[in-house]
Amino acid sequence: MANFQRITPEQLRSRYWFDNPDHPGTTALCIERYLNYGITLDELTSGKPIIGICQSGSDLTPCNRHHIDLVKRVKDGIRAAGGVPFEFPMHPIHENVRRPTAALDRNLAYLGIVEVLHGYPLDGVVLTTGCDKTTPAALMAAATVNIPAIVLSGGPMLNGWRGAERVGSGTIIWELRKRLAAGDIDYAEFLSRASDSAPSIGHCNTMGTASTMNSMAEVLGMSLPGSAVIPAPYKERAMVAFDTGTRIVDMVWEDLRPLDILTRDAFENAIVACSALGGSSNAPVHINAIARHAGIELDNDDWQRLGHEIPLLANVMPAGAFLCEEFYRAGGVPAILHELHTAGKLHSDALTVNGRSIGDNLQGRETQDSDVICRYGDPLVEHAGFLNLKGNLFDSALMKTSVISRDFRERFLNDPNDPEAFEGKVVVFDGSEDYHARIDDPALNIDARTILVMRGAGPVGHPGGAEVVNMQPPEALIKQGIESLPCLGDGRQSGTSGSPSILNASPEAATGGGLALLESGDRLRVDLKRGEVQLLIEASELEARRERLVQQGGYRYPGHQTPWQEIQRSMVEPLDRGMTLEPATKYRDVARQHPPR
Ligand code: FES
Ligand code: MG
Repeated sequence: MANFQRITPEQLRSRYWFDNPDHPGTTALCIERYLNYGITLDELTSGKPIIGICQSGSDLTPCNRHHIDLVKRVKDGIRAAGGVPFEFPMHPIHENVRRPTAALDRNLAYLGIVEVLHGYPLDGVVLTTGCDKTTPAALMAAATVNIPAIVLSGGPMLNGWRGAERVGSGTIIWELRKRLAAGDIDYAEFLSRASDSAPSIGHCNTMGTASTMNSMAEVLGMSLPGSAVIPAPYKERAMVAFDTGTRIVDMVWEDLRPLDILTRDAFENAIVACSALGGSSNAPVHINAIARHAGIELDNDDWQRLGHEIPLLANVMPAGAFLCEEFYRAGGVPAILHELHTAGKLHSDALTVNGRSIGDNLQGRETQDSDVICRYGDPLVEHAGFLNLKGNLFDSALMKTSVISRDFRERFLNDPNDPEAFEGKVVVFDGSEDYHARIDDPALNIDARTILVMRGAGPVGHPGGAEVVNMQPPEALIKQGIESLPCLGDGRQSGTSGSPSILNASPEAATGGGLALLESGDRLRVDLKRGEVQLLIEASELEARRERLVQQGGYRYPGHQTPWQEIQRSMVEPLDRGMTLEPATKYRDVARQHPPR
């Protein structure tokens, strides 16, 4: 247990607002309006820490909506420990519904949380999280402002079932779309079966981006050990909400802040754990972003160097067979960390919000069910992390190797002389509308060895970056039993998709990236062993195409629809840099660097 120098009530940040004899008028104005709903003068002036609760649940964000009830237990915990809770809203982020994409909201929510944490009388904050981007938005803001902060995930939904079959959120949609396209089921059955995946309150029950990012928050040390994947309706979820409330008050007295926890070691632990979890391909974007705001340079080479060799231990969809309810019962994130720790893959001294090291927190937390959380020596897949591919079209693109299926290996990685490479002809689409309009056009001549390319889908081309790279083959091929083709693109893909796409290609076509130079009919060579994707044409021809594109005024993409789309596009960084807002990344520790005035 780390030894913390405790601060005194006089050192509380909130005293500037609530006990400032130099500015009696301002102090009175700050205090009087909080009294108007029944807060007492004593609560605001007797030296109790004021704790913000960043509320990410709302009717627009159903994955997080139960936080509206759950924070009652957080408030009970804060009061029991002698603090005063103040709840405030996070800009809503709902992954499935927000158009043009929920990723546009991550940076907007980030900015909002930063302003609230900096500009209001808060000594510490509980960050409620769940749906995909709510977690990184909260952690990025915690790193920027750096007041004591703790993450409380809302937890995943219970298992979805159809008869005796598990139905995982998101993952089932990708499967059902193929069955709909093949004519096996009709639209009504499609909707009915899709709904099976959402049986209760909570976020996605697969190891999609939500469960991944909440697990990452725990691995980074920012939430209580064992809390990330407690299913939303379980009693333990409400209990850990209470414990989170009591703990944040102590963190304020201990002056334990996000930047004490978010060290390089913590981020390296996150990379390693993400591979073992079979985590979402969105994790590198968000983790790199949180690292940038914490002042730590982390890039996709780090993901390959540290993460690729790590085996898949979590047998959870989309990479595995089970769902988060079983994952929790098998020991959850601590059991994964226990395996990594025993294998010597963890920086076990990294500090966590409970004041102990991540290694100390793992005592007695081994897997309870090695079918669900495998032993390190007996994994589901060896080398399950991301590859960071490069070549003459982009500087970085990720491939999630844990989801490369046997069928895919047999169809593409089948050259006995070179088992990790394949070549194919490309068919190029400019955004998802173009894909939907043309994918079934027989004139494209898409066959079982075609590589589908999606461009115009990065953070600038499609504001925020669209999750559209995992493209379904044409109906005619699906009817022949060809259910997947290799896909490449400058957009993202859903964390619930089991498609082995090459995605997040940076720089994107819209900002001068090489995908803009591709033409349908070109041949690509993908070499996983060398980490390369090469367009097979002469360098002079590539140069000539680049000149023609410049003369035409560059790659065209749809215009802005809202003020924020225009603002974000003017300053957003590429996916491999975390899709952060460039001017924001120079601000750090702002609560101390820029005290209230
Ligand atoms: Fe919100 Fe998956 S859609 S967590
Ligand atoms: Mg998603």
